[in-house]
Amino acid sequence: MTQTAIAASSVSYKDLGFVNTRSMFDMAMKGGYAVPAYNFNNMEQLQAIITACVQSRSPVILQVSKGARDYANATLLRWMGRGAVEMMKELGKPVPVALHLDHGDTFELCKSCIDYGFSSVMIDASSKPFEENVALTKKVVDYAHPREVSVEGELGVLAGIEDDVSAEKSHYTDPKDVEAFVKRTGVDSLAISIGTSHGAYKFKVKPGEKVPPLRFDILEEVERRIPGFPIVLHGSSSVPQDYIAMINKYGGKMEGTAGIPEEQLRQAAKSAVCKINIDSDGRLVMTAVIRKVFTEKPGEFDPRKYIGPARDALVKMYVEKNEKVLGSAGRV
Ligand code: G3H
Ligand code: 13P
Ligand code: ZN
Repeated sequence: MTQTAIAASSVSYKDLGFVNTRSMFDMAMKGGYAVPAYNFNNMEQLQAIITACVQSRSPVILQVSKGARDYANATLLRWMGRGAVEMMKELGKPVPVALHLDHGDTFELCKSCIDYGFSSVMIDASSKPFEENVALTKKVVDYAHPREVSVEGELGVLAGIEDDVSAEKSHYTDPKDVEAFVKRTGVDSLAISIGTSHGAYKFKVKPGEKVPPLRFDILEEVERRIPGFPIVLHGSSSVPQDYIAMINKYGGKMEGTAGIPEEQLRQAAKSAVCKINIDSDGRLVMTAVIRKVFTEKPGEFDPRKYIGPARDALVKMYVEKNEKVLGSAGRV
């Protein structure tokens, strides 16, 4: 099913109960932590993200990719996001929630999301030449800012292949470009490439071998050039090896996987990095638990009995990320 139609009538994110990322990032910068940006495509992922962030008292950025909109239906996803906000209110323990378009690749898609009530969008023109990236990003900013929607831009290219994100080789961000990009586009945050990449196969390493460290020197130079400006890290899953082992134990085949070590993400979260994107880790946890249930209970056919345990494991993982890696727990 494909559904990326432009909204018939627009609605402001404020009426849906979302916030933009500005005050979130101000607080994260001052507090030396990063706001989690978790992707969702279905109800159980959304429930897990919200439950974990309410439980750990963390602000949260709910990320919807183009692929998620195509998979789940754009209208349904928007109302699911709103439903999550209403659910939190009913529980009496709301936390700030931004609804964010992840890796928007055209002006039309960003506009559609803004009209649909997103409070934040990413325009990812990082694979285009610098001048084209500036022009397209500025066009999105010019539409978003009068509506108080925040905009994330990107400089540098991350490697990794997913539904709608694909690049064979990464190009580190050139710190010399960042001042001009930020000034000329007016973006609210900047995603940079310092060695992270998308997916579960971030580095080619043999068992027991260490992964190469992130380029903190680039991050420091970026911070020196645009002090106090919110930086975003994509491709920040850690690819937990216990879940990889579980996937393989219960019939899966994932070999040579490696992610970003938590210690490096902790270090990044204390710097100008205000937003850390995690999607693959959620996919791995869900896959591992569902495989385990299928193997141990081959007669099970009620989806609640296998997606439910996966959702519980997701909650635990997101709480741990907020508490032990991003430092966003207890900030609300
Ligand atoms: O960075 C990309 C996200 O993990 C979204 O992936 O395009 O497969 O939904 P997707
Ligand atoms: P991972 O694939 O490392 O989870 O990255 C997700 C991401 O960057 C979403 O934009
Ligand atoms: Zn990404």
